[in-house]
Amino acid sequence: MSCLGFHCHKSLLMIIFLAFLGLISFPAEAAIKKYQFDVQVKNVSRLCHAKPIVTVNGRFPGPTIYVREGDRVQVNVTNHVKYNLSIHWHGLKQYRNGWADGPAYITQCPIQSGNSYTYDFNVTGQRGTLWWHAHILWLRATVYGAIVILPKPGTPFPFPQPAREFEILLGEWWNNDVEEVEKQGFKMGLPPNMSDAHTINGKPGPLFPCSEKHTYAIEVEQGKSYLLRIINAALNDELFFAIAGHNLTVVEVDAVYTKPFTTQSILIGPGQTTNVLVQANKVPGRYFMATRTFMDAPIPVDNKTATAILQYKGIPNTVLPSLPQLPAGNNSDFALNYNKKLKSLNSAKYPANVPLKVDRNLFYTIGLGKNSCPTCVNGTRLLASLNNVSFVMPQTALLQAHYFNIKGVFRTDFPERPSTPFNYTGVPLTANLGTSTGTRVGKIAFNSTVELVLQDTNLLTVESHPFHLHGYNFFVVGTGVGNFDPAKDPTKYNLVDPVERNTVGVPTGGWTAIRFRADNPGVWFMHCHLELHTGWGLKTAFVVEDGEGEDQSILPPPKDLPTC
Ligand code: C2O
Repeated sequence: MSCLGFHCHKSLLMIIFLAFLGLISFPAEAAIKKYQFDVQVKNVSRLCHAKPIVTVNGRFPGPTIYVREGDRVQVNVTNHVKYNLSIHWHGLKQYRNGWADGPAYITQCPIQSGNSYTYDFNVTGQRGTLWWHAHILWLRATVYGAIVILPKPGTPFPFPQPAREFEILLGEWWNNDVEEVEKQGFKMGLPPNMSDAHTINGKPGPLFPCSEKHTYAIEVEQGKSYLLRIINAALNDELFFAIAGHNLTVVEVDAVYTKPFTTQSILIGPGQTTNVLVQANKVPGRYFMATRTFMDAPIPVDNKTATAILQYKGIPNTVLPSLPQLPAGNNSDFALNYNKKLKSLNSAKYPANVPLKVDRNLFYTIGLGKNSCPTCVNGTRLLASLNNVSFVMPQTALLQAHYFNIKGVFRTDFPERPSTPFNYTGVPLTANLGTSTGTRVGKIAFNSTVELVLQDTNLLTVESHPFHLHGYNFFVVGTGVGNFDPAKDPTKYNLVDPVERNTVGVPTGGWTAIRFRADNPGVWFMHCHLELHTGWGLKTAFVVEDGEGEDQSILPPPKDLPTC
């Protein structure tokens, strides 16, 4: 039937009108969303200092990737700076497509100065808040931004629709060049200087000198509700976040819906994201949002508070905001209780498919140590290890080596458990010289189910570690303080609605058990998301083999994949 007559015209107009009103929707077509990322140096001034920093498109934080579930995304990254670099899309699963994952020397060679690479990937089966960041050296200190994945058209959130949403990226600021800070630390064999300030959307807020104009603010209207997409982009600090006078209702973490619960403060580790609803139902005024470090081990940290402002419409800027009460910096109980409250939504539409039967049981100890370094300050260099293996970055990317079968780049004999069990959290444990170093990874059969227990140790010191696995979400089935007890602890696992995420805290002097199904073939990095510890070798990778099925093997690499 052709559509030529006047009536036809009218009905066409009607369809357009109804679509405009949102009363009818057309079948969702996967859109291609294209972005250009120019990595370039920009002069930025904070805390009375101006300095050149590495940015994307001159922005700090960088641009938000704003997509819908089901979209295909193409980000052309052009490197205009002196560092070779790569970008990681933290939390995107990149099914069969590790080529777009981004960790330098794991899934790709870095993009060299003057070159470009297009990250081309589908956003499948995920919706919520994630983020992107540089994945080499300490460049992610300034090279990061949000990823917002809206649900498919016509699919509402499983919570009341907010009036508006805001992205809140928590980070750090160094007055000195971050790469110099990192290099200096490595040369001395000691932790590098800690940050000079925390930031909220790149701004420290008015509690710092010269910072009044560097304050992020949001405006709200009395009676409305707002969604905050909070991201911890800090290199080295786990953070508390709260808003004076306002409760936060947690509804999602790491782009997975949770059972909503209300809290005064959230705890968020580097790499993690947390979506909260906030009701603007208090006396109209100005309220500080604040963020400060959580550290419950005897380790010095940047404990300065960054602030931003939540301001009710119509309230003048002259009104002084009040500060929220954040938990004490070393409040372990808050941390344990908060993490206990996180549970998967586990609804019919968003089920928690927890693996109930485990094919592979892995047990990795987290240790700090010292190796001999004649040129370092103390004659030793600090390093970190899993099962006493400190990971050495290869010269060829692991994914290429795996895909093209290049020998000699890595070994697949990563120890499944410590060679000699010991009292992991007993005191005191001196880290002996002699942590082994190597590019060793674990090998996992396609579609097998894995349980990994990460056990903190008291080698040198206990400390909490946010662990991130690339290519997957996992379920956090159990956690506890002290040594993991393989006889008793698994009987207490939550196999019904454990939180599902991509980055999880291993508590100070404790353990965390995660489960996942290895259904994504490729080479997937796993590391502590404290950049300090990653740099010290607290990392490894899993080689997940191809499956038999046609769509169960690694896709061929893109033509413009960078070479080393
Ligand atoms: Cu957000 Cu391998 O990192």
